[in-house]
Amino acid sequence: MDETTAVTGSWTDGDRYERYVGRWSRPVAQRFVAELGVPAGRRWLDVGCGTGVLTSTVLDHAAPASVLGVDRSPEFVAHAAAHVVDPRVAFRTADALVLPVEDAAVDVVVSGLVLNFLPGHPAAVAEWRRVVAPGGLVAAYVWDYAGGMELMRLFWAAATRVTLAAGSLDEGARFPVCAPGPLGGLFRGAGLTDVVTGSIDVPTVFADFDDYWTPFLGGTGHAPAYVATLGRDDRTALREALRADVPVRDDGSIALTARAWTVRGRVPG
Ligand SMILES: C[S@@+](CC[C@H](N)C(=O)[O-])C[C@H]1O[C@@H](n2cnc3c(N)ncnc32)[C@H](O)[C@@H]1O
Repeated sequence: MDETTAVTGSWTDGDRYERYVGRWSRPVAQRFVAELGVPAGRRWLDVGCGTGVLTSTVLDHAAPASVLGVDRSPEFVAHAAAHVVDPRVAFRTADALVLPVEDAAVDVVVSGLVLNFLPGHPAAVAEWRRVVAPGGLVAAYVWDYAGGMELMRLFWAAATRVTLAAGSLDEGARFPVCAPGPLGGLFRGAGLTDVVTGSIDVPTVFADFDDYWTPFLGGTGHAPAYVATLGRDDRTALREALRADVPVRDDGSIALTARAWTVRGRVPG
């Protein structure tokens, strides 16, 4: 895996994504959709749908008329289409900044754990607003990389000790948009009204150290893509640094928490 992939993240293997982040993204998605309180029968668009975590949550909990999931990764789109089968859903490979949707064609745009990876956040939110009908919602969540997303915080703290180069890749430092102030400012700057930010904390309990560490070896996602650039000695040193850092309980399990920041706003009219 080359240096560019380590920086942008690698989004290709749906099963590995599910083991790394999908399993924790799912409970966040459930709380997020419940908090939006969107009435039944609305048209939804899930931007950066990945393996379909948020799309399937909308189908299961929001009684939508339709959901379109779009993602730039054809592999993830194929994974989502194979696993999320419902007459109300469609998936397409597309860029979050050039959505394959007419103006004002949906009632709700949602996006989970994507915004920080996009170039030009204002352009992205403007594009999301473009496709939402007046009175509709634009809503998103991102990990609290700098604080409450503990599995990644522990990872980058150890990685920076093991190889100084990791410091420049630390998602906590690289993604300043992942905080309530910047998220709210971004949505207000896009002309959205009734902008509200919040947080969702979910437990992330690992059966043992292997359950915590092994998903970092999958190459899918930002931190795993970084691990794939390491030589064997650095990888071993990182694993042992983490083993020393993570709080292991008497039964061998590791109980951490993941926090996502949420933001939503309404299209005027
Ligand atoms: C952390 S995953 C989140 C996936 C899913 N929304 C979830 O909550 O599990 C980030 C996703 O953003 C997608 N992505 C990154 N840049 C994108 C872009 N410019 N346009 C569309 N999707 C993009 C990736 O392919 C990946 O599926």
